[in-house]
Parts: sequence; C-alpha cells; structure tokens
Amino acid sequence: MKLLVVNGPNLNMLGIREKHIYGDRDYDALCRCVREWAEALDCQVEIFQSNHEGAIVDRIQQAYFDGTDGIVINPAAYTHTSVAILDALKAVQLPAVEVHISDVTQREDFRQVSYAGMACAAHYIGLGFEGYHEAMKYLAGQR
Ligand code: DQA
Repeated sequence: MKLLVVNGPNLNMLGIREKHIYGDRDYDALCRCVREWAEALDCQVEIFQSNHEGAIVDRIQQAYFDGTDGIVINPAAYTHTSVAILDALKAVQLPAVEVHISDVTQREDFRQVSYAGMACAAHYIGLGFEGYHEAMKYLAGQR
C-alpha cells in the first residue's frame, strides 16, 4: 500500500514555530516518525511539504496517476481557506484523512472551518504527531 503524507505551510518550521502550541520536535522528527510507522504498517510512504497552495494541489493531482492508495493531509493554514485543495481531494477520489497537530476546535474562530476536511473520511485533531500515526493506521486498515 502506498501512502502520501501532505503537509502544508509552516509545518517545516516545527520545533521553531509556536512551541507552546506545536511542541519542540522539528519537522525532521515528524518525518522520521512517519517513516517508522509506515514500515511497521508495511506501507510505502512519500512525504511532501509545501508552503504553496498550487504545489499542494499539483501533488494531490499527481497522486491520482502515481498509484497512491491513500492520502494523509495536514493542510495547515490552507485548511481554513483553500477550496482548491478541497476540490483536488474530491477530484482524485482517493481515501483521505485530515490531521492537525493542535486542537483547532479549541482555537480561534477562523480555524473552525475545514475545507479539506470535507473531503476526508476521518479526522485526527489535537493528538500531536500521533495523529499522523492514527491516520496511517486508518488508511492501512482499509486494505
Ligand atoms: C495546524 C492548525 C492550523 O490551524 C495552522 O494554521 C497550522 C497547523 C495543526 O497542525 O495544528 O499551521 O494544521
């Protein structure tokens, strides 16, 4: 099974940005965890991060053609603004799961809408890095 993990803007700044919200582990630590979890689940995984909305749309579209079986996505700030990412997820019709490190439900009003989440089968919110693990287990369980 081939999984694609998509991370949106500023997630490459983990370990530097707002540590009281996102913790002090950096982006490389997240990627290491994801790769270890993929191996344990007997899945292939590709991890993609971009600060650019169009690049994220392009990568989701590419997933339709490259044999991806499921997408784990943390669209970061684009969660709350991007109809284009929602449309891309709907276009490819691959099983997708939404992840947020922080508990967005307990944060500002502008974080209360999730466009991408509307195309996702499951949502792991506020579980820190472990949310990615839960999302990967969910998709692996669909095999
Ligand atoms: C986030 C939550 C978003 O609201 C925020 O813009 C992020 C990260 C999270 O993982 O908690 O950049 O997606």
